[in-house]
Amino acid sequence: ELSEEEMIERVIRIKEKLGRRLLIPGHHYQKDEVIQFADITGDSLQLAQAAAENNEAEYIVFCGVHFMAETADMLTSEGQNVLLPDMRAGCSMADMADIEQTERAWTKLQAMYGDTILPLTYVNSTAAIKAFVGKNGGATVTSSNAEKMLRWSFEQKQRILFLPDQHLGRNTAFNLGVPLDKMAIWNPMTNEIEYDGNPEDVIVILWKGHCSVHEKFTVKNIDDLRDAKPDMKIIVHPECSREVVAASDLAGSTKYIIDTIESAPAGSKWAIGTEMNLVKRIIDQHPDKEIVSLNPFMCPCLTMNRIDLPHLLWSLEGLEEGKIINQIKVDPKTTEHAVLALERMLAHV
Ligand code: 13P
Ligand code: SF4
Repeated sequence: ELSEEEMIERVIRIKEKLGRRLLIPGHHYQKDEVIQFADITGDSLQLAQAAAENNEAEYIVFCGVHFMAETADMLTSEGQNVLLPDMRAGCSMADMADIEQTERAWTKLQAMYGDTILPLTYVNSTAAIKAFVGKNGGATVTSSNAEKMLRWSFEQKQRILFLPDQHLGRNTAFNLGVPLDKMAIWNPMTNEIEYDGNPEDVIVILWKGHCSVHEKFTVKNIDDLRDAKPDMKIIVHPECSREVVAASDLAGSTKYIIDTIESAPAGSKWAIGTEMNLVKRIIDQHPDKEIVSLNPFMCPCLTMNRIDLPHLLWSLEGLEEGKIINQIKVDPKTTEHAVLALERMLAHV
């Protein structure tokens, strides 16, 4: 058993040895013990852009979740190898849309709406879903550019199928002025649309998926906080429900949350509704502000947390011995189509 200090020393030594042959991207939701070694930190958009721009790293040890490592693989070139330090680092939201369900849904939606509908997918989805979307003329979106991409898709078609996060889809469409009564749910279990009125009136079809971390923030949390601390501002991620976003003061992507707190005046008070590792880090970085988690029990993303210092070291020691452990490699056909969807997004940001 190595002590934490010994593990840290080893990571530093291997990083020095591999130099620019190694790149460690770290998502903002990663633990501090991992983030301290990240060459770039960012939200999912920034990390996708960084992967696309890097041509020199032979090894990209991705500290984030599986769909992010897939995206990095698809946006890098031959000879660049993407590794995920723990294969159990998945994403329950991405798993809520599988490709068979999506193709089944699409057949039915085409029968209902013909050529008036465009698929969009949150990057929090499998490579297969991104490929499906790319093949059908659509694009990926992240929480930082969802509004822009929804606007773009309304320039192409009159309707949108938004996968797999109903909340990001609903919150974004609402901000663009789409009335809630023109949004339907697609239920992948029944392969049916859930909508009370005439399906012809539907403009946005939301896949019935959600983030199990952001769903833990509730209107009750907000009411409790408003009672206890009326002068505290509430800022949440748009993966939270519409009700929570509506009751908050501000809502936006991971980057938006970080930037907003950073530029807020000393002494300001904030409750944040997003993943726990990030909230803790923001609290540590801003001792001049009063900051709490909107849900007092905090909300960790268990799969993000699978990547820890021992797993990072294990990946790096493998590389030192010439072994590429847990490589994430998307097949060429899937990559070809998924890249269309990713590039349509990257061209707009
Ligand atoms: P962003 O990094 O795009 O804000 O997404 C949040 C998230 O849930 C990542 O898994
Ligand atoms: Fe997936 Fe939510 Fe975790 Fe992000 S925070 S990886 S969307 S489960």
